[in-house]
Amino acid sequence: MSQTRQDLATALQRAAQQLGADLSTEQVLELFAAPPRPELGDLAVPCFALARALRKAPPQIAVALLEAAQADIDAIEAIAEARAEGPYINVRLDPTVRARRVLSAALADGWGTSQQGAGRTIGIDYSSPNIAKPFGVGHLRSTAIGNALKHIFEALGYRVVGVNHLGDWGTQFGKLMAAFELWGDEEQLQQDPIMHLYDLYVRFHKAIADDAALEEQGRAWFKRLEDGDERARAYWQRFRDLSLREFNRIYERLNVSFDHYWGEAFYNEMLAPLVDELRERGLLVESEGALVVPMDELNLPPCLIVKNDGATLYATRDLAAARYRHEQLGFEQFLYVVGHEQSAHFQQVFEVLRRMGYGWAEQLHHVPFGRIQGISTRKGTLVFLEDILERGRERVGAILADRPLSDEERERIIEQVTVGAVLFYDLSRNRIKDYEFSWDLMLRGLGPNERGQTGPYLQYTHTRLGSLEAAYVERFGALPAADTVDWALLGDDAVRGLVAHIEAYPAAIEQAAAAYEPSVISRYALDLAELFNAFYSGGNRVVSDDAALSAARIALSRATRLTLAHALTLLGVPLPERM
Ligand code: ARG
Repeated sequence: MSQTRQDLATALQRAAQQLGADLSTEQVLELFAAPPRPELGDLAVPCFALARALRKAPPQIAVALLEAAQADIDAIEAIAEARAEGPYINVRLDPTVRARRVLSAALADGWGTSQQGAGRTIGIDYSSPNIAKPFGVGHLRSTAIGNALKHIFEALGYRVVGVNHLGDWGTQFGKLMAAFELWGDEEQLQQDPIMHLYDLYVRFHKAIADDAALEEQGRAWFKRLEDGDERARAYWQRFRDLSLREFNRIYERLNVSFDHYWGEAFYNEMLAPLVDELRERGLLVESEGALVVPMDELNLPPCLIVKNDGATLYATRDLAAARYRHEQLGFEQFLYVVGHEQSAHFQQVFEVLRRMGYGWAEQLHHVPFGRIQGISTRKGTLVFLEDILERGRERVGAILADRPLSDEERERIIEQVTVGAVLFYDLSRNRIKDYEFSWDLMLRGLGPNERGQTGPYLQYTHTRLGSLEAAYVERFGALPAADTVDWALLGDDAVRGLVAHIEAYPAAIEQAAAAYEPSVISRYALDLAELFNAFYSGGNRVVSDDAALSAARIALSRATRLTLAHALTLLGVPLPERM
């Protein structure tokens, strides 16, 4: 189709030139639109924009342009006819040629991938939880979105480098150590490390209210840590290891991985040189004993670089991190997938880098997202992702209870459906929107005869498509080779929309990448399932006694399934073989 569009644009460009209007083919391509109603054709060329140059009314232009282009258009195989209708030229594609081209491509290796990003590097900072704190739902969102973006850019041929900016440094670790010295319990630490550490942290904060000396103890411990004191370092290492063990359990379940765990502590040695450089460039201003970079002209609070007690901050480490990553990775873009409440922080960091003279600061992008609301928690404000998943598993298990599955298979499917439900739901609307966490909504479509806009519904649709292929193979021995299919059998209206949608898949991936918006893919997948279901429930049996028709339809069905599978995989949604 892209070739067809290109050929059509060339034909119209030439025709316009004959009539006296100088346009580039790119400009013609930009005119192309979808007709308001499918009966009108597959592609519309509105002629309004040419009225000035040709000094004619758009309907007259449509007639004249078409006349001049007719011979060239007739030579384009995929175009069945072009008609001047009012101010438009409406073009109808030959459905057989289109079905052949689109579905052959979708059935071939490499569908959904391209080379447009070859030789280019994108870094993504995602997940990035804080050690000794629960892996919360904010981190779930960052993990889901970042991981999907990673897959999306990889599909486009980019080298993508995933970085986990673990929150493993900061004054809070001094408090944690002071608290552990006071009330720590080895056994509890082993059993449920994050829970125990978080308890200590909360308890310490409450105690500070009555005993100001504790504050000082916390500071002293952090100082020991910064000075490389052995006991402090050992605590830190253990807290970090135990936390990471828990996070890795979650990453394994979500099938998420990183190329680098460059946490905040990783940059410690790089902070002093950074501060020196800021000072040399005259960017630092002293304010109440602290060193800051003022940002008044941007209407932002000053960027805090060094506290009055000499401690560095989150922003300091992000500055060092950006520099290091740029040096190491030579990226063309670097994405920070972090909640929108940190927007000001990233504006500050990017601005400081700009002022340091780093042109590549323009290649850094904060990719913000909204909040998850409505989660009830195990304890106070504590949200453990694993608890949430456990609740999901119970529900999925109940819904699948009467399906004939072995125990092992059931276990696996419950996990795949639960994870798929959470990830898909998170990625199914514009990332910037807040959403309500609801298992009811996430699992809709899993129950018998239910439809929903959910991951489980798509997983189920995917298994049904798989069963069609199995039925075909059972009946006819093997799937048909693409070059034996009679594509003319797919020429009818019910198929047209589905083929057009499959054709649009590569463009959807590009769009998702350009906007850093995985929801383009989730919406695409939902529409795809919807179109196939409309075709199928419209009385179009796929496997029947008619061998030629069955072959054509199984090609369509398989192309749909492969596209759906690819899209779901981009989103990180697992694909159960059956459900
Ligand atoms: N650890 C931070 C938090 O939980 C997120 C870090 C995001 N990445 C970064 N480079 N600042 O809020």
